[in-house]
Formats: sequence, structure tokens, C-alpha cells
Amino acid sequence: MKSIVITSGKGGVGKTTVTACLGRALAGLGCRVALIDADFGLNNLDVVLGLESKVVYDTADVIENRCRVRQALVEDVRNLYLLPSAHGYLGEKVTSQNIKLILNSLAVTFDYALVDCPAGIEAGFKRAVAACESAIVVTTPHMSALRDANKVVSLLASYRFSPTLVINRVRGDLEVEGKIPTADEISRILKAPIDGIIPETDGAFDLGEMPKKPFELLARRLHLGVGEPLDPAAEYRGIRGYFKRRARRVK
Ligand SMILES: Nc1ncnc2c1ncn2[C@@H]1O[C@H](COP(=O)(O)OP(=O)(O)OP(=O)(O)O)[C@@H](O)[C@H]1O
Ligand SMILES: [Mg+2]
Repeated sequence: MKSIVITSGKGGVGKTTVTACLGRALAGLGCRVALIDADFGLNNLDVVLGLESKVVYDTADVIENRCRVRQALVEDVRNLYLLPSAHGYLGEKVTSQNIKLILNSLAVTFDYALVDCPAGIEAGFKRAVAACESAIVVTTPHMSALRDANKVVSLLASYRFSPTLVINRVRGDLEVEGKIPTADEISRILKAPIDGIIPETDGAFDLGEMPKKPFELLARRLHLGVGEPLDPAAEYRGIRGYFKRRARRVK
């Protein structure tokens, strides 16, 4: 089983969204995937997946031996399961060793464990990172997110990780107009390769509204090592792209 922590430094850049959508895309490729909500303070992976009413046990019950890991898992779609975090559970009590033990018991059944990390670089970040064997850093193309992502990439190097990047909320029209950095520029700034590019999706109030294609491409790169990430700027280049950009500006 491959364990991947999804982290970012800056909050609100799309870690939980990427965890859920990537999980579904990997499951779509036939991989068995466990999503672990390691954001103990502000956990919401169950809500994002629309599974909150199905949650019976959570990580706290597993750690305190009230149930086995597989009893706490909630099925999302075929091949995809969630280990919910605990509402109100004191996150400080959870150690990276706790998460490691959970990952070890999942390794028998699953191909991937995606660990949704809390924002920041404090205790919650450290215990999630220490328990996993690889990392994805999610960032947006905006300066404040890039600065935090830079810190996280350096920190991950001290854990001997070579993380890959997922750039989220990319507006292709702004990229063509030079208002946000291109994927190549971001890769150079952060000194890390890019595995996924996710466009800004107008009105993406829930997961169902998120486009599937960019996550399928990301899943294929991670699992099969083939293909290129989506290029959200492509449709805004050339003469037709010019009119599309203008139309988006007036919206
Ligand atoms: N590509 C996108 N296009 C439009 N909206 C998005 C996109 N990605 C995420 N969002 C929205 O941004 C908000 C924050 O996303 P999300 O909760 O995944 O971030 P997070 O990094 O997990 O936040 P936190 O640090 O608080 O855990 C959500 O409302 C989500 O729907
Ligand atoms: Mg989150």
C-alpha cells in the first residue's frame, strides 16, 4: 500500500477536495483506496463526501480500542472507503504512531491511503507527515499559498520526502494574460514536479460539481506514471481563446 499525505501549509487551498476527488479517481482505476481524515480540529472529509450520516465509529474509537479499523470505515463508492476523524476529539492525543498503526492495518486490504492533513505546519501536520511515505503539496497559483507551499516543500525535504505538486484553482484565462504564474514557473519556484493541475471551477459548491478529468489525469500519473496534467490555459489561447477570455472578464 502506498500512503500519501495531502498537505499545503496554507489553509483553504483545496487539500480536502483533492483528497476526495483523487480518491474517487484512483478507485475508478480499480485501486482500493482508503481516505483518512487526519484534520482532527476541523475535520470535514465526511461532510464533503456526503457520508456524515453513515459514520458510526471514528479514529478516536479505533485508537481507544472501541472498534477495529475496518468497523470504522465507511464506503463511499466502489473501492473507496473513508476513515472518519472524530468531531470534538482532542487531536493532541493522537500521535504519528497511532496513525502508523492504522495505516499498517489498512495495508492488508488497500492499494492507497490518502491522508488529509490539517493546514499549518504544527503538530497535526507533523504527525500526519511522519506516518506517511510520500507527500502531495496542494497549492493555488497565488503568492500567499506559494510562499507557504515553499516552506512545506523545504520541511518535507527534512523528512526525506520529494513531494509532487497539485496546483488547484487555476484560471486559464489569467494564466494566458500573465496575471498568475504558469505551472512551469511554479514548479521552478517550488523546486518540485507537478502531477496535477485543477482548474478553478465556478460554483463548485459540492464535490459533484468538480470536473472529473483533471483528477483522472492526476490518478493516471500517480498510479500508472503516464500522461500530462490538464492545461486549463489551452482553451484561452489563440483567437477563439481571446474571445473566451473577454467573455469571462465581463461575467
Ligand atoms: N478547483 C476549485 N474550484 C473552485 N472551488 C474550489 C476548488 N477547490 C476547492 N474549492 C473550494 O474551496 C474551499 C476550500 O476547499 P477545501 O476544504 O478542500 O480546502 P482545504 O485546504 O482542505 O481547507 P482547510 O485548510 O480548511 O482544511 C471549498 O469550499 C471548496 O469547495
Ligand atoms: Mg481540509
